[in-house]
Amino acid sequence: MSPHRIPVDPAVLAPSPGATHRIHLSAAGVSVVLDVTDGRLPAIAHWGAALGALGPEGLDAVCEAAVEPVANNAVDVPVRIGIIPQQSDGWIGRPGLSGSRPDGSGWAPRLHTRTLALNELPVTAAHVETGAGTLRCDLADEQLGLAVALEVELLASGLLRMRAALTNTGETPYALDELTVTVPVPSDADELLDFAGRWAKERTPQRRAFTVGTHLRENRRGRTGPDAAHVLHAGRPGFGFRHGEVWGVHTAFSGNHRHLAEQTNTGARLLGGGELLLPGELRLAPGQQYRGPWLYASYGEGLDAVAARFHRHLRSRPHHVSTRRPVTLNVWEAVYFDHDLARLTDLADRAAALGVERFVLDDGWFGSRRDDTSGLGDWVVSDDVWPDGLGPLIDHVTDLGMEFGLWFEPEMVNEDSDVARAHPEWIMAPSPDRMPLPSRNQQVLNLSIPAAFEHVLGQMNAVLETYDIGYLKWDHNRDLLEAATRSSGHAAVHEQTLATYRLMDALKQAHPGLEIESCSSGGARVDLEVLERTDRVWVSDCIDPLERQQMNRWTSQLIPLELMGSHIASGRSHTTGRLHTLGFRAASALFGHLGIEWDLARASEAELAELREWITLFTQHRELLFTGDLVRADRGETSLWLHGVVSEHADEALFTLAAVTRSGESHQERLRFPGLDAEALYRIRPLQIGERPSGLGAPAWLRRAADADGLLVPGAVLVRSGLAAPLLDPEQALLFSLRREGERTR
Ligand code: GLA
Repeated sequence: MSPHRIPVDPAVLAPSPGATHRIHLSAAGVSVVLDVTDGRLPAIAHWGAALGALGPEGLDAVCEAAVEPVANNAVDVPVRIGIIPQQSDGWIGRPGLSGSRPDGSGWAPRLHTRTLALNELPVTAAHVETGAGTLRCDLADEQLGLAVALEVELLASGLLRMRAALTNTGETPYALDELTVTVPVPSDADELLDFAGRWAKERTPQRRAFTVGTHLRENRRGRTGPDAAHVLHAGRPGFGFRHGEVWGVHTAFSGNHRHLAEQTNTGARLLGGGELLLPGELRLAPGQQYRGPWLYASYGEGLDAVAARFHRHLRSRPHHVSTRRPVTLNVWEAVYFDHDLARLTDLADRAAALGVERFVLDDGWFGSRRDDTSGLGDWVVSDDVWPDGLGPLIDHVTDLGMEFGLWFEPEMVNEDSDVARAHPEWIMAPSPDRMPLPSRNQQVLNLSIPAAFEHVLGQMNAVLETYDIGYLKWDHNRDLLEAATRSSGHAAVHEQTLATYRLMDALKQAHPGLEIESCSSGGARVDLEVLERTDRVWVSDCIDPLERQQMNRWTSQLIPLELMGSHIASGRSHTTGRLHTLGFRAASALFGHLGIEWDLARASEAELAELREWITLFTQHRELLFTGDLVRADRGETSLWLHGVVSEHADEALFTLAAVTRSGESHQERLRFPGLDAEALYRIRPLQIGERPSGLGAPAWLRRAADADGLLVPGAVLVRSGLAAPLLDPEQALLFSLRREGERTR
């Protein structure tokens, strides 16, 4: 018997028929141990740091160690929380599965495990240990006529994901209210971090104590939201980018959804998520199935490690974008609705001369859309502004060697549009005689109506078939309020979300190689399910580099830099009015999929020359940026933010130091560069393009590095003791490139 084995009296475990299986999945420094004692609903006995090979006795020990004592005034057996928490296991918190039948029954399920399959093979052994793998658990409550297919997958990146599908096996309809899957976190994960935000200020971090009750992030916008929880983390108090154990979850869904962190008075702590279903939205007929979204769960020592698992998983997908992300010019902040062939071909000439590789025509090319009050939904090239069609512009762009991209907003209409006039019944509304409040003068087109779906698909296909278009910017510029099928009044956000996914899938299938950017009033549709069919997100309509320092920093908690649209705009920000040097704008934008959104006809020759250098720098570094690990330094309450990308074997790195505010102290700070190899010797080079950053007070090492061809510095100095920080005025940045030049002699 293993010395760790703590025997459990079987009499104190709730009786349940069925076999006992204990399964250990482990990959990339993470272990997940699932306990299916006596055929009960699978419970996670451990999710966190890798446990190493356990053997049968060790596996029993992990599961038995998770059995809590029986408390006074609680149920008479230890409470055991399954992945879908239920009252029948003694759980008094929020149930994972909630719903009922017309007669009021069916709301208190007792799901148990019928069969288990690991990587498609039936599990018969009591103890299983393996690496990454997929466990399919066939659960049921036969008496209530409910069956659940639960998938638990540990990916090679160490990322865990789970989803559940409910089938109504009964004889009456089952109205489903909620299907949430959860993961347990330790009782000393005392602090929560998730995100809020609004238009043009997405993903602002918020921290709080993890206390008794439910921290519930519900989204009823019918889109992921500028204030989406994004990743909901629990961790040891004070956890940072590089330290402190952290457990984070992400609900991968672009419609209504929830994230939650729940603690009961017993101290049990859960993180969970699922789709948010509106009243009556999911009424399952006998035999019908509903499948919930993936809940992704990432564990690591520090937020960088949590982010790295998401990034590695996304990068491992066969359909992930190539590292040669084309430098993009989007015309929106350059011309807005002023679509003029001469002006746009001139812009294309200027872009191509700088090294731009993709040219994207934004809103305003179709129907009567001369401003945001009309024409939305009529995906036909406007004769007024494009009398010869888009051909002359597209030919010009492609002749210059650039790819052409085009803006659509397929789920939306202006009421003043041909489509809305012809089919008012296609507009989402609570009843035939009530309209939701307009937002940006627009309403939502109900894509769950097959004719509406075919209409939009047909119009989009026609444009894509007529022209050489490699890229769509897919926008979605309003929340879904009172979003129902107009004729019936039935809530339809669930169906609308799935229809949008189908529309994207159909277009991608019909046009192999087509890339799609997910935009929603800026960054209100950033989630891992939309990213299964899109190739980039627009982080925010705010391109102010100071704001982007924060927004990009936190958007990349979930997604890698190559999927994050990051543009250099004009000197004065269109959303904040702040003025910034080109150096700060470019150094900030470089850590993302670089683009330009600036009327280049108004840029000076000097600015264009500098811009060209920045673009060259980006193209030289994109392989590193889009394959390396993102590292963000923990620097406390400092004015200087340091982040970078380090190549897989820490041979190469690119860092940016950004002064985000004015320091309250005179500078006695050191810069420690995370992610490098302390045993290596590096050459550090400051990279300067354009004018010298304002207020730069260079310490001796930086002056020497700038005068010579860089400076050789032992990795241990960079990682552990640090280099004196330069003085910088606020909203200025420095870039450093680092390259391994050998190992330290010991
Ligand atoms: C949204 C997008 C912008 C732009 C406009 C066009 O606001 O986020 O980038 O495409 O729509 O109307």
